[in-house]
Amino acid sequence: MEDVSLPTGIAVRSLRKEDIDAVVEIESEAFSSPWQASTFEGLLDRPGVELIVMTEGARGVIGYAVLWCILDQGELANLALTTSRRGAGLGAHLLRHVLEVARKRGVEKLFLEVRASNERAIELYHGFGFTDVGLRRNYYERPTEDARVMLATLR
Ligand SMILES: CC(C)(COP(=O)(O)OP(=O)(O)OC[C@H]1O[C@@H](n2cnc3c(N)ncnc32)[C@H](O)[C@@H]1OP(=O)(O)O)[C@@H](O)C(=O)NCCC(=O)NCCS
Repeated sequence: MEDVSLPTGIAVRSLRKEDIDAVVEIESEAFSSPWQASTFEGLLDRPGVELIVMTEGARGVIGYAVLWCILDQGELANLALTTSRRGAGLGAHLLRHVLEVARKRGVEKLFLEVRASNERAIELYHGFGFTDVGLRRNYYERPTEDARVMLATLR
C-alpha cells in the first residue's frame, strides 16, 4: 500500500491569520503577479474557501494551497512551496492533502489552470489524475503565456 504519511517534521493544517505574511512571501517567490496579504485576509473564513498551509518544525510555513469549492465542483487556485523546499516530494504531499479536503467537501470535479511551461507542476498534476480539458490562450501576464486547464475527477 502507498505510504501517505507526511515526512518527519512536516505538517499540514488550515491557514491562520498569523501565517499570512509567510504565505505572501512564498506567493511572491512563486508568481509574477502575486496576491497581496489583503486578498488572503479577505478569504479567511469565507464559505467554500479552503486555505491550507504546510509547515516544517520551527521553520513554520513552507507551502500553501488555496481551494475553492462550489457544490460538486472545485478549483485549485494556488499551490506553492518555498523555493528551497521544492523538488523533494512535498508538493505531492500537499496536493494529496488538498484532494482529500476537496473530497470531504463533496467535490467531484476539480479544475485548475497552470502555465503551459510549468513542467514540474504539470507532471505532478498528471500523477494525481489530472488531464487536459482546455487551453486559455494568453491567459497569463508577465510573461504572456497560455494556461492549460486541467481536471481531475474525484471519488
Ligand atoms: C509546483 C510545486 C508545488 C510542486 O512541488 P514540488 O515539491 O516541487 O514537487 P514534487 O517534488 O512533490 O513533485 C514533482 C514530482 O512529483 C512527481 N509526482 C507525480 N505524481 C506523484 C505522486 N502521486 N506522488 C509523488 N510524486 C509524484 C512528479 O513526477 C515530479 O517528479 P520529478 O521531480 O521527477 O519531475 C512547486 O514546485 C512550486 O511551488 N512551484 C512554484 C509554484 C507553482 O508553479 N505552482 C503551481 C501553479 S499551478
